[in-house]
Amino acid sequence: MKIDIVTLFPDMFLGPFQESIIKRAQDRGLLEIGLHQLRDFTTDRHRTVDDTPYGGGAGMLMKPEPIAAAITSVRRNNPDAKVVLLSPQGEPLSQQLAQEFSAMPGLILICGRYEGVDERVRTTLCDYTVSIGDYVLSGGELAAMVVVDTVTRLLPGALGSSHSAADDSFSDGLLEYPQYTRPVVFNDLAVPEVLLSGNHAEIARWRRQESLVATARTRPDLLKTARLSDKDRSYLSRMEERGQ
Ligand code: ADE
Repeated sequence: MKIDIVTLFPDMFLGPFQESIIKRAQDRGLLEIGLHQLRDFTTDRHRTVDDTPYGGGAGMLMKPEPIAAAITSVRRNNPDAKVVLLSPQGEPLSQQLAQEFSAMPGLILICGRYEGVDERVRTTLCDYTVSIGDYVLSGGELAAMVVVDTVTRLLPGALGSSHSAADDSFSDGLLEYPQYTRPVVFNDLAVPEVLLSGNHAEIARWRRQESLVATARTRPDLLKTARLSDKDRSYLSRMEERGQ
């Protein structure tokens, strides 16, 4: 997969993309990342990328022309890419959207800065507008890194054989169950007996129930859309009856 990123701060990406899974995916040829300085697509002497908003108001907006020129140029080497604008006004990033992105041949990520981006960029040049959460970042760069990370771990072969993205939290719409490693006792707390039992069916049952408990306590909103079996539902209603 090819991911091109259009940004005023390409150097912000250098550290995060040179470590761990994203680095390995690039080394294995699963992922190719292109970083593009937006100012390189300006035509004036001052390399202007922003301007004041019509109608007044505080701050500056990103002008449409340099972004349009950048997309046209980057598209030559990433012809089937979908264009994604990172913005707090976007649709929320979810595991499902990450899965959709990971099946695409390419992405072009546009990082906004200042008070925002001219609306015509979003409506005429972008296929998606994506937010990584209900808070405001100083720009889309950190959000783009989040998109790259979550998409990369879904590329076939990116995680190696020891780990499957299918077990991750959210992949079935629930939070992941709690995990333990050595020592058996830490801070006076022992690892749950069932995990030491070697009984794989019991362990799977316990993990599913703990997933349901964690989700019901921390993210009850997820239960509305999670894939739940009849067994799951009866466990949840028993939990509720017990007031847990
Ligand atoms: N740019 C600024 N804040 C953002 C957010 N929450 N998500 C995506 N892009 C952003």
